[in-house]
Amino acid sequence: MKPIKVGLLGLGTVGTGVVRIVEGHQEDLVRQIGTGVEISRILVNDVTKNRTIAIRPEQLTENVEDILTDPEIDVIVEVMGGLDPTKDYVMRALANGKHIVTANKDLMALCGTEILAQAQAYKRDILYEASVAGGIPIIRTLTEGFSSDRILKIMGIVNGTTNYILSKMSREGAVYAEALREAQELGYAEADPTSDVEGLDAARKMTILSRLGFHVNVELADVSVRGISRVTREDIAYGKTLGYEVKLLGIAERTEEGVSVSVEPTMVRLSHPLASVSGVFNAVYVFGESVGETMFYGPGAGELPTATSIVADLVAVAKNLRLDVNGGQLPPSYQEKRLRTPEQIVSKYFLLLHVADKAGVLARITQIFADHEVSLESVFQHPNAASPHAEIIIITHNAVKAGMQQVLADFERLDVVHEIRSVYRVEG
Ligand code: NAP
Ligand code: HSE
Repeated sequence: MKPIKVGLLGLGTVGTGVVRIVEGHQEDLVRQIGTGVEISRILVNDVTKNRTIAIRPEQLTENVEDILTDPEIDVIVEVMGGLDPTKDYVMRALANGKHIVTANKDLMALCGTEILAQAQAYKRDILYEASVAGGIPIIRTLTEGFSSDRILKIMGIVNGTTNYILSKMSREGAVYAEALREAQELGYAEADPTSDVEGLDAARKMTILSRLGFHVNVELADVSVRGISRVTREDIAYGKTLGYEVKLLGIAERTEEGVSVSVEPTMVRLSHPLASVSGVFNAVYVFGESVGETMFYGPGAGELPTATSIVADLVAVAKNLRLDVNGGQLPPSYQEKRLRTPEQIVSKYFLLLHVADKAGVLARITQIFADHEVSLESVFQHPNAASPHAEIIIITHNAVKAGMQQVLADFERLDVVHEIRSVYRVEG
């Protein structure tokens, strides 16, 4: 049988890993597929650029048509990134009868519905395991492993850059700017780190996971997003004293009322397995009605971990080719989208307030919580000789988000509250 021919769009970090794995694991691939996998052509921006792997010059091209219209190419692996011109290339490749494997979370989160419909129309495979949590097979876990269960909650540390920054702030007491600079020097964060640190990268990944987990067509605009750029050393230190680690968590929940998806810095109780995920590692916690608690941990990015997921998708396409069952997926069948309102979202909260240090202040503060039916789990006052304010830390019991919003609005108007320093959701 002739080898499976692959066209690669991109030969950067991930594309290089794909070439290494296809070449290095060829014997194991042949055992699983029954034939070889060959990377025929590779699209790059600049064919003269030095590469870290040996590539035959005739493999490289700057003209996408060499790949999209080559009748010999069975599968296209898209590792260029971005939406433009990538979306156009993927749509045309499907129309030309190519199967697609992609690592592109931007593409799948923002244009996934259109791309899946195109694949369906042309009876082609489209697989995107590497788009969420790089080396962790979480998409296959949700769509196959847990297809029998009703998933109620997905919580993910799905951005390695921000987890590295928060871990460094927590372990070494580094300030945010210093930790970010080091993440950039180590090549984890982009030169423009906005998408990572403001939570947008994580929001795209949570959009994909919640669609697959809940069978609801969640869109990026449905995700409430807050990044880590305002997390302080002080918040992390106070959290630790009380038994919490600050993590940028994607939290997707499903109840009878509907779904909610958010990305926000969260105080995670130290006994929760997500609290111990540090550095650039990713982890996804999945709670299913029947299976209960599960967690999947591993590298969320990097050349070889990400390429592992891509080549696993390639193997799946190649097996389908051998069995002649490509494009055999059923169209996604979504249930009606109902988003939970702030009146329906319940969690515990951590607050750090700077308040006037005089008699009666605590009574006025606790009265506001009572007015909005938010019950308190604990209240601490920290002496701080260097500060003219009293520092009050409050942890609530489970409270309705709308009630908490009213509490915060009242604090903004209360003269004895000098500053609402921080507010975090609490999990675990
Ligand atoms: P990268 O290192 O920047 O590589 C991009 C590659 O695409 C380069 O080879 C570049 O060519 C080529 N390219 C970009 N735009 C092009 C265009 N318009 N025409 C022709 N070639 C073009 O990117 P990466 O880090 O490998 O990431 C690739 C994808 O994987 C992205 O969607 C990313 O989100 C996703 N991903 C990455 C990781 C990770 O760890 N890096 C993890 C998970 C998912 P030149 O080499 O000539 O410049
Ligand atoms: N910027 C991403 C991260 C890369 O830091 O996790 C993987 O998608």
